Amino acid sequence: MKTRQWLLADHPRGRPLKDSDFRLTETDLPEPGPGQALLQVLWLGFDPAQKGWAENVADYVAPMALGDVMRGSGIARVVKSNTPRLKEGGLYAGMTCWTEWLITDGQGFEPVHPDLPPTAMLSVLGTTGLTAWCGLFKLGKPQPGDTVLVSGAAGATGSTVGQLAKVAGCRAIGIAGGAEKCRWLVEEAGYDAAIDYKAGNLRAQLKELAPNGVDVIFDNVGGSILNDMLGHIATGARIVICGGISRYETGTMPAGPENYFNLVFRRATMSGFIVLDWASEFPALRKRLAGLVNDGRLVFRVDEQHGFENTPRTLMRLFTGENRGKQVLKIAE
Ligand SMILES: NC(=O)c1ccc[n+]([C@@H]2O[C@H](COP(=O)([O-])OP(=O)(O)OC[C@H]3O[C@@H](n4cnc5c(N)ncnc54)[C@H](OP(=O)(O)O)[C@@H]3O)[C@@H](O)[C@H]2O)c1
Repeated sequence: MKTRQWLLADHPRGRPLKDSDFRLTETDLPEPGPGQALLQVLWLGFDPAQKGWAENVADYVAPMALGDVMRGSGIARVVKSNTPRLKEGGLYAGMTCWTEWLITDGQGFEPVHPDLPPTAMLSVLGTTGLTAWCGLFKLGKPQPGDTVLVSGAAGATGSTVGQLAKVAGCRAIGIAGGAEKCRWLVEEAGYDAAIDYKAGNLRAQLKELAPNGVDVIFDNVGGSILNDMLGHIATGARIVICGGISRYETGTMPAGPENYFNLVFRRATMSGFIVLDWASEFPALRKRLAGLVNDGRLVFRVDEQHGFENTPRTLMRLFTGENRGKQVLKIAE
């Protein structure tokens, strides 16, 4: 049989993604051998980190060569199985990569959660939910009554962080681009307040909403937004550096935040992390996240686009802020 695949055609270093960074091909797929299974991919999931993988700047994953099938997560159905790891007819989440069909031995694939939509394994129970949990609780260490400030707050990770902060008894303030995203944060995701950074008065709004400073910062964005947030920390603040999407499309590292010395005045700590370091805890954390969803304490939204031919364009939506929640692409029924 044949499958279509998107191959990496250029390393998008120091610039935004382009259509020509990826090439659509069709290739023959062999029959699954002993210990292997044939899977049909139904959804692809998208993460800003994929740009870093394609650039080969991230050293926590294997390098990507030109001509490789683009790396990425997905949900797939097992069509034929010669391995006890994967049940025929079952739906599994894993690194499917950008292909319509694949042969795998099943390593790294997890069954989808039985009670939630399959795409929950790419969003609230996937890397984004786990990243929110680990970054907030292991590094942010929120205490009841704390004020938690989240940048990139309306995204898949950020929207989960604020809700987990509320579960921990904190006040949650989000920063996001545009009135609609800010409205969703307060009305649907239960944030106490949201600031539209595109409206241009971030510093003044921070002062008004958190006159005593913030206790935890969860930063997905970096750049000037991080700088403004650092200018507004309370004594003993914990600053969690999760991502820095504002710099993912530029070639140069931005100058360090001018306000970094506030860490000294406020006796604050700033830590970065890679969520994969807590992989052994993921099964237990997934259960806790699913419990919160089932109790109605954690909502999530999934932005579903359609059509395998739109795969690169769907990744680009993360960098323009077009996505509303976890970005996925449905490629088969
Ligand atoms: N450390 C880890 O282990 C780890 C793991 C997973 C994800 N992450 C990081 O977590 C962050 C969020 O990822 P996600 O998958 O949940 O994506 P997401 O937040 O759902 O989507 C990305 C969002 O980033 C915002 N954005 C894009 N360009 C921006 C810019 N120049 N300035 C400010 N905001 C910008 C946009 O929202 P607006 O419309 O609000 O601008 C966009 O919707 C990323 O930085 C990612 O790299 C880290």
